[in-house]
Amino acid sequence: MEKPLDESFWKNKYKNNNIGWDIGEVSTPLKTYFDQLENKDLKILIPGAGNAYEARYLFENGFSNVSVIDLVQAPIDNLFKSCPNFPKRNVHKVDLFDFKLSGFDLIIEQTFFCALNPELRGHYVEKMLELLKLGGKLIGVLFNIPLYDDHPPFGGNREEYLPLFEKYFKINVFDTCYNSIPPRAGNELFINLEKQED
Ligand SMILES: C[S@@+](CC[C@H](N)C(=O)[O-])C[C@H]1O[C@@H](n2cnc3c(N)ncnc32)[C@H](O)[C@@H]1O
Repeated sequence: MEKPLDESFWKNKYKNNNIGWDIGEVSTPLKTYFDQLENKDLKILIPGAGNAYEARYLFENGFSNVSVIDLVQAPIDNLFKSCPNFPKRNVHKVDLFDFKLSGFDLIIEQTFFCALNPELRGHYVEKMLELLKLGGKLIGVLFNIPLYDDHPPFGGNREEYLPLFEKYFKINVFDTCYNSIPPRAGNELFINLEKQED
């Protein structure tokens, strides 16, 4: 690994506007998923939310219990600039692995898993299990291409990811994403993974 992927690493990315992952709006696969949800009281968490377009979209569409986590203050400030009424108590500047609140119905994944050191993938799965309630779901997109070995985004594929999750989650969907944004078309998996009893 070139550098530790700590707060200062990510802070510099925002400072230098080196944020190639940022698509400037809610992504199509997640928007499509959100639009079919009927229960606006779902307790939703978005870890590594960045500029948090998904959180803003959910909040503006009546979802009342959306929380975000990020290591860095700059994207959190951007969320409040774009969505001043977003509840402050639901915004956490913290390392995901130190975050303690749990009982989430949904956790939303987008370019966060692939931003972590791949050595932490098992730890990520354990943390998702800790934070989700029984029957809760991890929903989102994972890159389905090799990408880089020494800096994020780190890639992978279905065969590599599936064993990490299948012991603990019911696999509702783990397939090529049919509605990725055009630059990511064919290179993403959509996941809908449901926490099961041990
Ligand atoms: C590649 S960006 C993705 C941002 C957003 N999900 C998106 O798709 O636009 C990864 C984000 O995760 C944050 N991050 C990295 N490691 C983290 C950690 N351990 N805990 C919380 N946030 C973290 C970074 O600050 C950054 O905002």
